[in-house]
Amino acid sequence: MKTVLVTGGLGYIGSHTAVDLIARGHRVVLADNLNNTRAEVLDGIEAISGVRPEWVQVDLADRSATEAFLAGRTFDGIIHFAAHKAVGESVAEPIAYYRNNFDSLLNLLDYQRAHPQCGLIFSSSCTVYGQADELPIPESAPIKPAESPYGNTKQVGEEILRDAVRAFGLKVIALRYFNPIGAHSSARIGELPLGVPQNLVPFITQSAAGLRGPLQVYGNDYPTRDGTAIRDYIHVVDLAAAHVVALERIFNASMAEPFEVFNLGTGEGSTVLEVIQSFERATGSSLQWSFAPRRAGDVIAAYADTHRATEVLGWTAQKSLDEAMADAWRWQLSLQGI
Ligand SMILES: NC(=O)c1ccc[n+]([C@@H]2O[C@H](COP(=O)([O-])OP(=O)(O)OC[C@H]3O[C@@H](n4cnc5c(N)ncnc54)[C@H](O)[C@@H]3O)[C@@H](O)[C@H]2O)c1
Repeated sequence: MKTVLVTGGLGYIGSHTAVDLIARGHRVVLADNLNNTRAEVLDGIEAISGVRPEWVQVDLADRSATEAFLAGRTFDGIIHFAAHKAVGESVAEPIAYYRNNFDSLLNLLDYQRAHPQCGLIFSSSCTVYGQADELPIPESAPIKPAESPYGNTKQVGEEILRDAVRAFGLKVIALRYFNPIGAHSSARIGELPLGVPQNLVPFITQSAAGLRGPLQVYGNDYPTRDGTAIRDYIHVVDLAAAHVVALERIFNASMAEPFEVFNLGTGEGSTVLEVIQSFERATGSSLQWSFAPRRAGDVIAAYADTHRATEVLGWTAQKSLDEAMADAWRWQLSLQGI
């Protein structure tokens, strides 16, 4: 049994990862300041796993608060999810994004430097590839200039980690997520979108539930099989499992390099219209939608080359798009008390 700090542990991906860590026999401590979630998520984690992990409400971007929290604690690993993540908001509030995402990372690196046996997993993103020149996108694809301050925090975050690993002899794995969707099949934890969802699947479920108007499909003239944009949608439960596998790679001293990067996706691209069809097929609900002009900054197509994760990590996504849509819908209904 290892002791693992999950930052942002009451958030969407962090809560699913906490459940998987507990199922694999690890002791989990969650750090989350409730910036983008609710304390009740802890009840959901407990209901699924039978364990109520320790949760500390701390702002990890606050240096003295983070030092006070970490003082005297020994972690075998840290999975660092805590960050602001809304692309549009980051354009409007770049300083707040840089401050939160960099300061929290730097404060954790101070801890890791003092405890170099503690491994770290970093939440990165496929946004680092921009519109990639090759599809599927391998980890070796060039990093494109970031489209937003949020994307920049992931790119520069990886660079900071690379430098710290080199200077201090640390062990770090950066995971580049494609598009996480779905929820735990129990419908006890899932995504809590605040305000109008910027992502496709939460908008679909809220629209189908009557909480939003018809879905607007941005762009029908992309050079794709049906004219709509292509993304790689990965079930959050599969994504969570990859974090545990990656952390155990550090625990088992199996890393080939002290800083490693893996794509996390399914390897399959789906168009927006295919996602709508999947939702209707999986849930029996019908969705109202119409085409709208392309949205600035959206890439045409992005899906992962997953060979490295399969061959090196020994991890492959298991769940289908239909399963993710059914789980997302069940979660939406449970949010409304249905
Ligand atoms: N969801 C996605 O589509 C996606 C895609 C690529 C990468 N990521 C990255 O994965 C990570 C997790 O994303 P998520 O979807 O679970 O987001 P989320 O907002 O649901 O979870 C992040 C959690 O971190 C907490 N938090 C934020 N700043 C904090 C701080 N300073 N101190 C303590 N807690 C803080 C929030 O309250 C929230 O619970 C983020 O780093 C995000 O950038 C997400």
